[in-house]
Amino acid sequence: MTKIASNLQIDSARLWGTIHETAKFGATPKGGVRRLTLGPEDKQVRDWFRDACEAAGLEVHVDTLGSMFGLRKGRDMSKPPVGLGSHLDTQPTGGKYDGVLGTLAALEVVRTLNDAGIETETPICIVNWTNEEGSRFAPATMASAAYAGDYTTDDILARRDAAGVSVGEALDGIGYRGSEAVGARRLGAFVELHIEQGPLLEAENKTIGVVDRGQGIVWYDGKITGFESHAGTTPMPLRRDALAAMSEFVLAVERITRAHGPNAVGTVGEAVIATPSRNVIPGEVAFTVDIRSPNAATLDAIDRDLRSATAEIAARRKVEMALAPIWRKEPTVFNAKLVDAVETATRALGYSHRRITSGAGHDACNLANVVPAAMIFVPCKDGVSHNELEDATQADCTAGANALMHTVLALAGVAS
Ligand code: GLV
Ligand code: MN
Ligand code: MN
Repeated sequence: MTKIASNLQIDSARLWGTIHETAKFGATPKGGVRRLTLGPEDKQVRDWFRDACEAAGLEVHVDTLGSMFGLRKGRDMSKPPVGLGSHLDTQPTGGKYDGVLGTLAALEVVRTLNDAGIETETPICIVNWTNEEGSRFAPATMASAAYAGDYTTDDILARRDAAGVSVGEALDGIGYRGSEAVGARRLGAFVELHIEQGPLLEAENKTIGVVDRGQGIVWYDGKITGFESHAGTTPMPLRRDALAAMSEFVLAVERITRAHGPNAVGTVGEAVIATPSRNVIPGEVAFTVDIRSPNAATLDAIDRDLRSATAEIAARRKVEMALAPIWRKEPTVFNAKLVDAVETATRALGYSHRRITSGAGHDACNLANVVPAAMIFVPCKDGVSHNELEDATQADCTAGANALMHTVLALAGVAS
């Protein structure tokens, strides 16, 4: 690396400005962001991102699933680009940093290289992956998973949201069904900066998390069918209450994941009574379950325990209970050489750091199946994420972006 490159720092105020400028697309009264995948606010931020990429001299390509790639040429265009980026969609009650930091830091890296007149040996490519969050369309990280070959494009295009709108229709609705085949834009490596979304870095007063693993994730869809009847006239022993069964199931998820702890977590994030009414005993409840662990065997063991708990509750309460796995992402082991590259860049910048496992799913976990991939974490306040109160400091975001830039420079090389 040349001297100028090794001293290079991103423009902290400019990065911070873009994070707050884009937070207006879907801003919520509580200071968070609601920018559901492929909705109108997602279109707004995508248009902003495309304009910013073009203004930075990038060639923007969009694939059939709407993932956006901004290519910065390198000296040797025969080499596959080093990818960097994340996502711009958010949870329904999301924050300003989840995904946004990694995507806008990637843009900031390009702007900094442009200002410094640095040409890399290998091209670099900044990426905004479609639907990382998975809250409007399941599964999460669907576009990067299709990029990595886990799903066909047609399968993902046909997935529907709760209102029955397909991914394909939603893409057409905002004009982001691109022409490039999914997976065609090959990358040589991928590096994603992200807030930690957990409490460890803050608790240990560390600036950078060098991510070497990612938890495995299993998602289930479930349904409980009991029997609707009159709230005033149906004696307690005769009820087949779907919500009461649901309540037992929620507690079973908690008990089972705790029993497989400390490195397992389980969440019922949605539970919806089909036709709620104050004086009707709930007859049908639909629900979702999210189970995570860094160990595949633990996911299997939790699956077995969940099934037997489900059968027991259903039999005792005389309700039907269906529990179907709809997504399984195996635990990720990030590429050792790239993890070392992140650690080396972090050390050279003088930031405190530790190795860390990602509790959240990320597009980089899918990329890791097809190219060397790594992640960089920075702390977030109280470890809170997937919440409008999500917060991170400018200094930590800046440090993360610097670590990202120097990792990418080490991978892409500086043309002499
Ligand atoms: C994505 O945000 C996930 O980890 O669920
Ligand atoms: Mn994210
Ligand atoms: Mn998220």
